[in-house]
Amino acid sequence: MSLNFDKMELPPRPKLFDFHGVSMVHFFTQNWENVQNFQARPDDILIATYPKAGTTWVSQILDMLYFGQTSPERLTTLPIYERVPFLEMTIPNLVTGKDQADELPTTPRLIKTHFPVQFVPKSFWEQNCRIIYVARNAKDNMVSYYHFDCMNQGQPEAGDWNSFFQRFMDGNMVFGSWYDHVNGWWKKKETYSNMFYEDMIEDTGREIDKLCTFIGLSPSAEEKEKVTSGVQFDNMKNNKMANYSTLPIMNFKVSPFMRKGKVGDWKNYFTVAQNEQFDADYKKKMKDRTLQLRCVI
Ligand code: A3P
Repeated sequence: MSLNFDKMELPPRPKLFDFHGVSMVHFFTQNWENVQNFQARPDDILIATYPKAGTTWVSQILDMLYFGQTSPERLTTLPIYERVPFLEMTIPNLVTGKDQADELPTTPRLIKTHFPVQFVPKSFWEQNCRIIYVARNAKDNMVSYYHFDCMNQGQPEAGDWNSFFQRFMDGNMVFGSWYDHVNGWWKKKETYSNMFYEDMIEDTGREIDKLCTFIGLSPSAEEKEKVTSGVQFDNMKNNKMANYSTLPIMNFKVSPFMRKGKVGDWKNYFTVAQNEQFDADYKKKMKDRTLQLRCVI
């Protein structure tokens, strides 16, 4: 199946509302019942993240690892959002992520979600699916999310930086509070594999090795080299099938989806006062010491 956006009218910016205690927009709630009843298969792989934590990066790595040898054409003909469906997403009159996932012809099926842990359809746990949760330090995650909301018509208006900063700390973001998301997933960490964006930046090859151990793949040195090089930031930024440039809802004149791909960009946005305010608030919300240290820089 190939998505055709030709006749799609750009929707007005959606409004946030409370959905079972989490801020959401209708694109991710209107198919709720069907999504909750999604039938996972034991070999499905779920990539779970708070938005902007490195979802696309890990998706591309997994897709290359699994299918780079057997069906390389899919990497050059299908955009990432068709190879790795976004489970809870609905584009009215066009597609739902749930249908896309149901119809995936591949094994394993790679599926993406931004749901907080309590929203994940229970069949993923019942089927003992392999789940990978990617986390990114809160400050860079916030900056990346800000630019995403500026450029993506499918997200609420970002507003100015100062108001966005406050909104992020208050948890009034699509998919809710970063703090609740990361803390909530961490509590279930025995049931999945954790990855951190910063580790991937530090040594992508090492993190690919860890991922391979988790999913039980043993690529040859040559295959691994192909994946490691294919997922370098510049290569993904220039890859139309990975960089989202085919989605009309995103305005690349405002910001590219593959924006900077760096650790520490928050220093270009946080004022000294904002940084102090953030750190004090962060310590209160992030009680687990390991997680606290991992997700701030
Ligand atoms: P920035 O906005 O900081 O550049 P997601 O896929 O979860 O939406 O995350 C998007 C973020 O991951 C963006 O961060 C994007 O540039 C970054 N990213 C995507 N692919 C990457 C790669 N190969 N290397 C480094 N960062 C990458």
